[in-house]
Amino acid sequence: MSLTYDRPDQRNFLDQTRQGVIGQPLDRPEGPLKVAGQATYAAEYRRPGCAEGVLIGARISKGMVTAIHRDEVLAMPGVLGVYSTRDMLRRAAQGGAGEAPMQDVHHIDFPDQPVALVVAESFEQATAAAKALRIDYDDQSDTARLLPSADAAEPAKEPIEAGDLEAALKDAAHVVDVTYTTPGHASAAMEPHAAIAEWDAGKLTLHGSLQMVAFNVKELADSVGIEPENVRIISPYVGGGFGSKLGISHEAVAASIAARDLGRPVRVVMSRQQVFEAIMRRSETEQRVRLGCDDQGRLIALAHEALISNLPEEEFAEPVTQATEFLYRGDNRRLAIQISRINRLTAGSVRAPGEAVGMQVLEAAMDELAVKLHLDPVELRKRNLPDVVPGQGTPYSSRRLIEALDAGARSFGWNQRLPLPCQRREGEWWIGMGMASAARVNILKQAEARVTLRTDGSLLVESDQTDIGTGSYAILGQIAAEMLGQSIARTEVRLGDSRFPSGAGSGGSWGASSTGSAVFRACEAIRAVLARKMNCGPDDLVMRDGNIWSEGADPRPVTDLLEGDLVQVGRIEPGETSEKVKQATYGAFFCEVAVNAFTGETRLRRMTGAFGFGRVLNAKTARSQCLGGMVWGIGSALMEELHFDHRDGHLVNHDLAEYHVPVHRDIPEMEVILLEERDADASPIQAKGVGELGICGAAGAISNAIYNACGVRLRDFPMTPDKLLAELPDPFARVT
Ligand code: MOS
Repeated sequence: MSLTYDRPDQRNFLDQTRQGVIGQPLDRPEGPLKVAGQATYAAEYRRPGCAEGVLIGARISKGMVTAIHRDEVLAMPGVLGVYSTRDMLRRAAQGGAGEAPMQDVHHIDFPDQPVALVVAESFEQATAAAKALRIDYDDQSDTARLLPSADAAEPAKEPIEAGDLEAALKDAAHVVDVTYTTPGHASAAMEPHAAIAEWDAGKLTLHGSLQMVAFNVKELADSVGIEPENVRIISPYVGGGFGSKLGISHEAVAASIAARDLGRPVRVVMSRQQVFEAIMRRSETEQRVRLGCDDQGRLIALAHEALISNLPEEEFAEPVTQATEFLYRGDNRRLAIQISRINRLTAGSVRAPGEAVGMQVLEAAMDELAVKLHLDPVELRKRNLPDVVPGQGTPYSSRRLIEALDAGARSFGWNQRLPLPCQRREGEWWIGMGMASAARVNILKQAEARVTLRTDGSLLVESDQTDIGTGSYAILGQIAAEMLGQSIARTEVRLGDSRFPSGAGSGGSWGASSTGSAVFRACEAIRAVLARKMNCGPDDLVMRDGNIWSEGADPRPVTDLLEGDLVQVGRIEPGETSEKVKQATYGAFFCEVAVNAFTGETRLRRMTGAFGFGRVLNAKTARSQCLGGMVWGIGSALMEELHFDHRDGHLVNHDLAEYHVPVHRDIPEMEVILLEERDADASPIQAKGVGELGICGAAGAISNAIYNACGVRLRDFPMTPDKLLAELPDPFARVT
């Protein structure tokens, strides 16, 4: 049952069903498997005769491979084969939907770019041979191409311009003109990239760790030169993706090519260091924000201009101005992104591409404006919500930003905040509070799912939709159980296999609403069949606890109506609602920090996030998504940063010991408020995406709290002790 989503489904049907499982904070059905180590991840499959492959990275930042001295290592114990760049990828996948990454070139574009694969009987033999393999290069490394440069940058896309920005800035009662920098980030998923490839009569099966199975099938087929119907990808459990597994990457192609050549299964697991060095980074950014407002704090001028980077020829450009386009007033505006081409690993989608670093800077700049105005930063946001998207005139779908600001402020105790910095001191610590808005675009993607009502009344949901730690298994089962009146215990969900109908995949926060809508449509189709049997309209049907009846009649077991399995495929496609209204999710962050007056160490003391993202499908998994996003925000505010050696371009901190993400000790008690919301424009289940919303602005709230604590406005993320120490006021000066 296919639906192009041109008109909002205003029935809010999931509010009329009576099973009572939708929205409930149910546990993940696969949770016990995961905590018991029984969920099988890509590298863990036991395939008879499986050989082990180890990738080798380039020693130069730019140039060509001229020779690979294969024969020397082919003589080593257990070595089965050596495969070169000709068979390899230049890079990991694109930022969400790009072309297949296979490149038949010997070019090297960044340090540690995989150039060869050694395959042996054992992992140890492959590792020893990989270390011994000599590779000759034509080294064309150019230190001038290792760092982004504004001079050599080009527009990433047409700038958005409206009105007369310069004149408005001149007329403005208050102006902020600030430049912030954010560093590169690693996706830092817990599970390293891994693949096991095996061939049978020209057909390839890949156990992989991937976010977008249907898309990945096409990429892999293209990379190895076969038809997509001859590729099967199995990816039921994924230990985090964060964008890094949107597309296939080196390990999948290398394993497939070696397995075909050797006629036996081949496993390639990237080391933690290789994942950092070769897969994907978030671009570093330099962002200039200019805000001009009238004496009431209403924005009349808004400019957000960024410099980002990527490899030569890459399409993806970190869309830092994405939420700035629609969030606040400012009819005179300029939003522009310049891209610098450098020899640094592919920049792609990492945890809310665009808004994650764009919002943290916009929200810090808004705080600077609030300080100039002597206006409460919450009030400044409220005064600047436009009626329609500035410069476009597009109306908004549901937007609960004011409710998020109010609910968050109330629960956090924002009224306790002292407006001036350096007013609150506890021993060695300056204490301060900060806030920021959250915003993230919402996307509906084409998706399919199959639902079976079995003759015994139990339910089966199947889709190639992945669960990357997000809760897909839970929420898809809840939608089916709710729609067809069955308990969650009698609802089975199978995911992550390309033999199932193609879901939307996990990316851009679209999985739940898109694939959830496909499940909803499949259930509607089953309800329509049952209604015909019952001689009533599908919406008059009541299904609950395995019983079925039409309003007013007596319940009877649904199994009475079944002669065999009832199977339907549901399909959703984005339509006019995606264009006619501006769909986004919103929220607000409030936090309290303590900054050590002597050491510059910042400790987050508490944090509240309030979010509106349409229907909550599962209050527990949704809350976890929000918490996870906020933790990412804490990381980007205080510690996360890729460091590259300026001499040869190599990544210095390529593991989780040196690339710092927040650990349990860094995270205090955090509060998440889920607002009641239905967004009929977004999807027939009135849900939007929540996966990435929690990071979008969170780091801004923390930087604003640091300013409120100690009066230091660092404009260079992350706000590490060394930087704060250089700016902190005299620690012995007492509060006045
Ligand atoms: Mo996401 S960074 O689109 O997986």
